[in-house]
Amino acid sequence: AAGAEQYRPQFHFSPKEHWMNDPNGMVYYKGVYHLFYQYYPKGTVWGPMHWGHATTKDLFNWQEKPIALFPDSLGYIFSGSIVVDKKNTSGLGKDGKVPLVAIFTHHDPKLEEKKLNTFQTQSIAYSLDEGNTWNKYSGNPVIKNPGVTDFRDPKVMWYESGEKWIMTLATKDRITFYSSKNLKEWKKESEFGNDLGAHGGVWECPDLFPMEHNGKTIWVLLVSINPGGPNGGSATQYFTGSFDGSKFIADSKIEKWLDYGTDNYAGVTWSNTGKRKIFIGWMNNWQYANQVPTKAWRGATTIPRDLYLAQTSEQYYLRSVPVKEMDQHLSSVYKKATLTFGNEIDLSGYTKDLNGQLKLDFNFNATSSMEIVLSNKAGDKLLVGYDSKSKMYYIDRTHSGATDFEKDFAKKHSAPRIAVSENAKISLILDVASAELFADDGLTVMTDVFFPSTPIDSVKLFGNENQKLTNLSISSIPTFK
Ligand code: FRU
Repeated sequence: AAGAEQYRPQFHFSPKEHWMNDPNGMVYYKGVYHLFYQYYPKGTVWGPMHWGHATTKDLFNWQEKPIALFPDSLGYIFSGSIVVDKKNTSGLGKDGKVPLVAIFTHHDPKLEEKKLNTFQTQSIAYSLDEGNTWNKYSGNPVIKNPGVTDFRDPKVMWYESGEKWIMTLATKDRITFYSSKNLKEWKKESEFGNDLGAHGGVWECPDLFPMEHNGKTIWVLLVSINPGGPNGGSATQYFTGSFDGSKFIADSKIEKWLDYGTDNYAGVTWSNTGKRKIFIGWMNNWQYANQVPTKAWRGATTIPRDLYLAQTSEQYYLRSVPVKEMDQHLSSVYKKATLTFGNEIDLSGYTKDLNGQLKLDFNFNATSSMEIVLSNKAGDKLLVGYDSKSKMYYIDRTHSGATDFEKDFAKKHSAPRIAVSENAKISLILDVASAELFADDGLTVMTDVFFPSTPIDSVKLFGNENQKLTNLSISSIPTFK
């Protein structure tokens, strides 16, 4: 729209001003979804970390709130999680008020400067007013550093059958699990992963949770790594397996990635949502996060995603799809049951006035390649497609607009097709400066940011005469204030 800030996402969360990275402390409480995030309120590059705060009732209309946690004598406030302490196990509740308890990493820059390896510790804070204001616990830190340089990002969950809290902590090249009865005293349970999974970089921002699949409980462990992602820089891998309250055992040695794109990092799930698992990530990559060409702010979140399990070729995989709350915001601009290729299919007549805010859905035949060319009047182009020979999906942002802020930004990224049926499915969400590809109901996902000089207005589809599209639909998505 006229006067809109260049590259500003219109239906994803981004702070009005300044720097954000990881989503933190997501908790659902009394009808409100809270999102806290790594925030530096004095600049648009990474700096002394605070927890910013935003809330939403529907995962789309966001309200930015005052900063929740400020750095203190123990250091900056790094990533972490929040739990609802319903039974007041912590004793931090008062007058029957249920405490929300934040568990986060204190990062002490003074100790870091002295080259000591004990500068990251785990601390807690609590809120007695539904997440509006926070008090730090006087006994911090609750877990001291045992001499591990990377010792951070606690994600805590209630382990029902053992009636205890489990903390999943990123500890350099592995995960360390701790348990507690009261969120204040923690005992080390076990370690996982130094000999499994991807290790191209340090492990960060883990999440552990059970999921139901065909009457079985499968445990999922998300682990972000930086660098070492499948298309460069930071990315999130995951493991499926079992957890007995003490030890996680993976059921496979296969590498699995939650998102093969370059721009979904440090994501975890909301707590207190019952069996539903809602995920959100930071839509950026450490490789260039401090250089992306936005002005007033830097950083945004992905679209919130519902997670499900699927079983393909004897393996459990996560499926992530845009949360169902998105459907009510879609307005159909075009629908077509069958489309066959003679030459290109030009949909620009339907997309030219959408400001690069749209959702495109269709089914296609995986035995034949296809490509979506998204472009603007300036000639910037983003290519999204499927190569039937290599069985790979791809997003190519080589000529997508501003790319020269970092030498490896202008690239084509690929992801394996995990589904095996001939009938393949694409769901693509564009929001001005981001593309989120959910292929085959979210079995293969790619999230890429790009910076077109003006929003995408033209959409064209290419395929050969063997390719046929069915159930095509284009929807517009509004701007949220
Ligand atoms: C991940 C991360 C975390 C850390 C935070 C610091 O992106 O490096 O490991 O807690 O960012 O801002």
